[in-house]
Amino acid sequence: MLRGKKILLIISGGIAAYKSLELIRLFKKSGANIRCVITNGGTNFVTPLSVSALTEEEVYTDLWSLKDETEMGHIRLSREADLIVIAPASANLLAQMTHGLAEDLASTTLLASNRPIMVCPAMNPMMWQHDATQENLKTLKSRGIKIIGPTTGDMACGETGKGRMSEAEDIFTAVMNYFSANKPLAGFRAIVTSGPTYEPIDPVRFIGNKSSGKQGHAIASALSHAGASVTLISGSVKIPDPDGVKTVHVETAQDMLEACESALPADIAVCAAAVSDWRVDSYTTQKIKKGASKKPPSLSLIENPDILKTISNHKTKRPTLVIGFAAETENLDDNATAKLESKNCDWIIGNNIIENNVFGSDKNQITLFTTTTKKEFPISEKTIIARDIVDEIIHYLEANKLTQAAE
Ligand code: C5P
Repeated sequence: MLRGKKILLIISGGIAAYKSLELIRLFKKSGANIRCVITNGGTNFVTPLSVSALTEEEVYTDLWSLKDETEMGHIRLSREADLIVIAPASANLLAQMTHGLAEDLASTTLLASNRPIMVCPAMNPMMWQHDATQENLKTLKSRGIKIIGPTTGDMACGETGKGRMSEAEDIFTAVMNYFSANKPLAGFRAIVTSGPTYEPIDPVRFIGNKSSGKQGHAIASALSHAGASVTLISGSVKIPDPDGVKTVHVETAQDMLEACESALPADIAVCAAAVSDWRVDSYTTQKIKKGASKKPPSLSLIENPDILKTISNHKTKRPTLVIGFAAETENLDDNATAKLESKNCDWIIGNNIIENNVFGSDKNQITLFTTTTKKEFPISEKTIIARDIVDEIIHYLEANKLTQAAE
């Protein structure tokens, strides 16, 4: 099943474009979200109206359309997909991709993309055999682009040979196989903290932090999609538990720490929770009455355990990669780098909460700080930010040749 998977389908010019309609139907039936870009040539073979009716989404055709750019924009189109499928891929589009041309919405989107790409070529056999096409394909393959087909048979142009686009069912199977095989974090264990902690004052009142849990939950979900076995330790939030993730519900910072410690060992820990720094040192079992004394009650606070710091300094079960968050209202760089040191974690993900109004929003803007590097990411949906973070985790583990150690 492709439930929840985001696929961007690019339809370029070719008679085989009619098969793309069947492909969309198969994608939709298996629960995928499909967005389509049709090239100018493609619109000669299928209409945006039929594609839009099948995808139940807006169809994008024009790089210079104010409407398309304000609603979506080629950068978002290129970044939001889990996979880009080009079917049919014309000889022209393959050549544009090889040489980095950005002449229309499809080629510009492809050049702006860091997402995996699958191409399904369709062209006349002579065009397919041409050295230019074959060399372009070699280059595209060397960049990790997957090529599906073409097959051999009778062509619409009357010739027979290799160049027919693979059948919709075969492309669909290749996409299914891609998603089931692409689990780079399989075997790795991860702990994610998310949401706020609530520290009770009396049975009805509490001290809490502002946090919707959207970013932490999205990270747990993205880690799980990449194959990791994930324990999400969540404070009180209004959003559902992510699918495929073991979720432990907690209320206070102390509960959250205990749940983290019982979830160890893990290879990766992401502390995205907004943990209350303090709790009241004497919880009152009865509701504190207003006006019981002349003055409002005074609360005496004590410090909560620092979960991130505790995990980072764990003597026997420190995860290989420990990631903290820094939600700051000012001096993001200084505060984030200071936090890296004081917490002894490996990465800090900083966000400026005033500038970006992140609480409860579906969007976020982050900067990733390691001890030696700083990388800024564009403002994006929290689900996209989560996938960017997981991509960074995968690259880090691969670059350092780290294999799962947690047992
Ligand atoms: O300490 P501060 O709130 O500035 O740091 C934020 C980071 O530390 C976040 O990753 C947060 O989840 C984590 N944290 C924690 N336990 C605390 C306070 C913060 O895990 N008691």
